[in-house]
Amino acid sequence: MAQSSSRRTGAKKPAAKGTSAAKPVAKRASANKTSTRKTSTSKTSSKTSTAKVSAQRATSGSTRPVRSATSARPARSARSTRSAGKGRGRTPQRQTLLILGASGDLTGRLLLPGLGSLLASDHGTPLKLIGSGMEDWSASKWDSRVRKAFADYSGPLVRAAAADTEYVQADVTDAEQLAALLAKSEGSTAIYFALPPAVTAKVCQTLATMELPAGLRLVLEKPFGTDVSSAEKLNALLQKVVPEEQIFRVDHFLGKSTVLNILGLRFANRLLEPVLNAEHVEKIEIIIDEALGLEGRAGYYDGAGALVDMIQSHLLQVMSVLMMDAPPTLTAPDLRDRKSEVLRATKIWNDDPVGSSHRARYTAGSVGRRTFPAYAQSPGVDPSRKTETLAEITVEVDTWRWAGVPVTLRSGKALGTGNKQIIVTFKPPPRVPDGFTGTWIPERLFIGIDPAFMTLNLNVNGPGNYLEIDPAVMTADFGPGQLSPYGEVISSVLSGDTSLAVRGDAAVDCWRVVQPVLNAWKADKVPLDTYPAGSAGPKSWPTVGAKPISEPLS
Ligand code: BG6
Repeated sequence: MAQSSSRRTGAKKPAAKGTSAAKPVAKRASANKTSTRKTSTSKTSSKTSTAKVSAQRATSGSTRPVRSATSARPARSARSTRSAGKGRGRTPQRQTLLILGASGDLTGRLLLPGLGSLLASDHGTPLKLIGSGMEDWSASKWDSRVRKAFADYSGPLVRAAAADTEYVQADVTDAEQLAALLAKSEGSTAIYFALPPAVTAKVCQTLATMELPAGLRLVLEKPFGTDVSSAEKLNALLQKVVPEEQIFRVDHFLGKSTVLNILGLRFANRLLEPVLNAEHVEKIEIIIDEALGLEGRAGYYDGAGALVDMIQSHLLQVMSVLMMDAPPTLTAPDLRDRKSEVLRATKIWNDDPVGSSHRARYTAGSVGRRTFPAYAQSPGVDPSRKTETLAEITVEVDTWRWAGVPVTLRSGKALGTGNKQIIVTFKPPPRVPDGFTGTWIPERLFIGIDPAFMTLNLNVNGPGNYLEIDPAVMTADFGPGQLSPYGEVISSVLSGDTSLAVRGDAAVDCWRVVQPVLNAWKADKVPLDTYPAGSAGPKSWPTVGAKPISEPLS
């Protein structure tokens, strides 16, 4: 902060709700560039450089052993104990991963590379990979898709899976063809539905009429239904096929290392947990502003929009991890019970979907070097649908712990902010003693989802003038996870651990939370605003978010 040569008579006191940082925001620390994970405390003013404290993370063994304390993958120890026998002297049994929709974009862009990262890691397990699609693909076309996706990965499991994979052309809504496909599987089998939801439902109806291999797991991509009742029907259908513990509703955000890090940060420390409640927290924001545009996905996106594509699914899940009570273990039943408690208690702020939501879509503009046409003019878009590309809703988790704390969830496309983070803003201290000078900033905890970091902004005094309050920053670099989010998801499927999957009741609750907003938007009760691609969103919207006050670590 700027230095004052004359001592002021009083510190700028904490302002009421919604105060913003008083100091111009410095660029975020470059802590993520370091390969070793560092924590540091640094003051923001130049005079404070001597006060900078920087410490390497404690190495294991020096402290009480805590499994996975702040590792990027805290849930791993719980899962790996149930994985295919690694490290216990047994050869893991070969399993089968059957991907339906294997010729599609999701398989090539995310699933196969995620699988490659898993097989190359020390959590890989021997696998027979079968791809199936309607397209008449030759064996060599499939092989080359697999090899291309695995190109960055090596190791015996990667080579074995690539050498022994096959592609089968099939109409998987047909029982005979589906049975022939399942007959090719070895060991326990997981079916990954990389298919449009309507086709997935048809295949499940077919599966419900068939005799199935024991332990069959079903892996489904979002959306899980289109509203509460369709999600309930889908759940009922799935449960006719296999029990809930064998259903993996995928939310790849739950496989992101930063989201997993929330568990370690909250529950492996004493410091934060007691203040994460309505007594101390003023507001919470979860923001995923994407630079991406439609990326050729109009066919799906124009029917979904930002609210369904991101908030209904991913952001509510992230919120449930951030706001759940401490689970006794990191096992699936405990984690999912805790998350569901949060979602069941969540409702639109003030029960007012009109006053507690905003929607907008982008007009022509550029994000960095990329130029986007207006969303409404983009190929495949029907402008009369009024699909939003930016959505913002405020909700309340109406529990003893959180009642009265506004939680704003926002996500959109073609935005120039690069803002992908969780921000917890704490209430001002009840009384700052008279006599302090300087400038007070709101205490904030930032959890960066991309890039991965954690920053805490605090007020401290000195050095030099101990009466002067000065902002300080503590930053930890979470570092990347060992696996990609899809690698994590597939890993949990293969180890039969549903802790990263969305349970049926939670999928229904996510629809229940957003339904009043969807209704209000459908009835045109909320204006569809516009923002130029590359901007921070409509200027008329109340400001959300903040940037951590920080400085590069030296
Ligand atoms: C997907 C959405 O589920 O998540 C996309 O359908 C979005 O619209 C994507 O871009 C964001 O995920 P990630 O991992 O790229 O941040």
